[in-house]
Amino acid sequence: MERIDTVEALRGRVAAWRGEGARVALVPTMGNLHEGHLRLVDRAREAGDLVVVSIFVNPMQFGPGEDLAAYPRTLQRDSELLEARGAHLLFAPAAGEVYPRPLEAMTRVEVPGLSDILCGASRPGHFVGVATVVAKLFNMVQPDVAIFGEKDFQQLLVIRRMVEDLDMPVEIVGVETVREPDGLAMSSRNGYLSAEERRVAPALYRTLRALGDRLRAGDRAYATLEAEGRSRLEAEGLRPDYVAIRRADDLAEPDGETPALVVLAAAWLGRARLIDNLRIDVEAKPA
Ligand code: PAJ
Repeated sequence: MERIDTVEALRGRVAAWRGEGARVALVPTMGNLHEGHLRLVDRAREAGDLVVVSIFVNPMQFGPGEDLAAYPRTLQRDSELLEARGAHLLFAPAAGEVYPRPLEAMTRVEVPGLSDILCGASRPGHFVGVATVVAKLFNMVQPDVAIFGEKDFQQLLVIRRMVEDLDMPVEIVGVETVREPDGLAMSSRNGYLSAEERRVAPALYRTLRALGDRLRAGDRAYATLEAEGRSRLEAEGLRPDYVAIRRADDLAEPDGETPALVVLAAAWLGRARLIDNLRIDVEAKPA
């Protein structure tokens, strides 16, 4: 596996591959890799001939007071994991390579409607930072296909919408959330949890499952279910940010006819902000 840190070198490498007819797959990450990220690499190997993984802790998607400085940086170990998993190229640029101007002076990408709800409401500017860096990575790498996790469900929809609205010639593939044996979704931020908090953390997914069971059983009192979800998280010792039942295709509030739903939740546990979601296909409309 080759490791490259400038856009110029990256372009040269990828252009040579593409000249040989290779299909290029990109997996964007912020590093501190775990099995969830590595599953995206596996999927990328199926989707393309050559797999580029980017590792870049993107300052534009962190708000003031968030964990940009504390975010775990483990490049050497990540590089070994990627090599073992069969990635072909690791692109790990420095911040100045990606943002040659002060962040506030940079051109940015906004996806109205999807960027400012749920996680976007709690983290203003977050999805603008995500969309902007992913658009830049697409222009740097020019992949045929890019792989993202459903763990960050809202992020995946933001990127799909951006690609559609800006006519980006990139196929977007979503990969199912990879979980610990007790159900906790794998995340680099799980490392912030104390041993006691780690024992509490699976309550997030359990709560989503409980709401999913109620929806499947025909319960459509969405607001009541959401309030119950928040109470349950509090009772388990988490500090809920939101629990929301939404349409899976656009995150709008569901009407009675919506068959494809997603239950999304964000909650604080110690200094970690955990997110998770569960997709539910319900019968079109109970008679
Ligand atoms: P990061 O949190 O490092 O995640 C990189 C990719 O891995 C994302 O597509 C995310 O959804 C996926 N992922 C994380 N945990 C997962 C899990 N348990 N199962 C499956 N996939 C998982 O998301 C980002 O970085 C950034 O916002 C980025 C897209 C790189 C832009 O900076």
